[in-house]
Amino acid sequence: MQATAEVCMSEFALDVRAGLGAEGQKTLPCRYFYDEVGSALFQVITRLPEYGLTRADDRIIRKRAEELAMRMEGPVLTVELGSGDGTKTRRILKALLRHGRPVYFPVDVSRTALDACRRLLAGVAEVAPLEASYLEGLQHAASLRRPGQRLFVLFLGSTIGNFSREEARQFLAQVRKILKPGDAFLLGTDLVKPKPQLLAAYDDPAGVTAAFNLNLLARINRELGGTFDLRRFRHEAVYNHAERRIEMHLRSIARQTVRVRDAAMLVEFDDGETIWTESSLKFRLDEVAALAAGGGFECVAQWADAEWPFAENLLIADGAGADGG
Ligand code: AVI
Repeated sequence: MQATAEVCMSEFALDVRAGLGAEGQKTLPCRYFYDEVGSALFQVITRLPEYGLTRADDRIIRKRAEELAMRMEGPVLTVELGSGDGTKTRRILKALLRHGRPVYFPVDVSRTALDACRRLLAGVAEVAPLEASYLEGLQHAASLRRPGQRLFVLFLGSTIGNFSREEARQFLAQVRKILKPGDAFLLGTDLVKPKPQLLAAYDDPAGVTAAFNLNLLARINRELGGTFDLRRFRHEAVYNHAERRIEMHLRSIARQTVRVRDAAMLVEFDDGETIWTESSLKFRLDEVAALAAGGGFECVAQWADAEWPFAENLLIADGAGADGG
């Protein structure tokens, strides 16, 4: 009977049901942060003085765009995984433009973001948006390459940090399987930094990150008929030193029961119990190089920002990958 009910549920409802119905620690997947409200809040986060990640990413790209374009000389297809509106990538495409009009595939699950991306970048590239998951989009772009064309894959903003370390390892290997030897992968990674700096970045005094986190419950209310009272949950960011990651939680400040109609569930919360909503891994440079090597890449350059520990890593698919070289 229960299985029959699940057949009719959306993917979001199924994920909420699995995460909030779990024995032990309740969880919600962080990809559901990014509805219209959540995406707008994230844009504000990237402008907060306490959150230096996006500005660091941008500074490195600005400084290295020419060098990247030189290294990518020859026919190349640029594919960006999780493009957003494409602001950062504009500089890379403009640098590539000197060697001919670049072909650019932004891959994103958000149609709104892809439309914004096309508008912003149409002047500097042939933009072919792909509304798809990262790997499906990459696979599709790879199927369109012509002989002699290299792929240049961008995965910026430390989005890889929102995977677990095991997922990150698997993701790199899956990307490598789609690539050919010599293809390039530019990977942005946020680096380990002092705990007070991290805590301020993920629990800013203006409360923007708190609103971003709580919006997940508001989204469940809006889209799945949930009854979360947002005033009865508190945003928390904790640094897990052993795992080198920030964890974001929503802590219930009372014993309470919440109904989620479309997930066909009643969720009981103890006073003080948390929902774990996001992990944000912080990397060491040597760890990224090792992660790359394990996934079938050679890390040929690492550029770190001087103000905010963050690195752009240029990886080249090695010759012994799953494609048989
Ligand atoms: C998108 N991602 C890399 C951000 C991060 O820093 O992990 C998401 C975020 N969560 C809270 N603030 C920003």
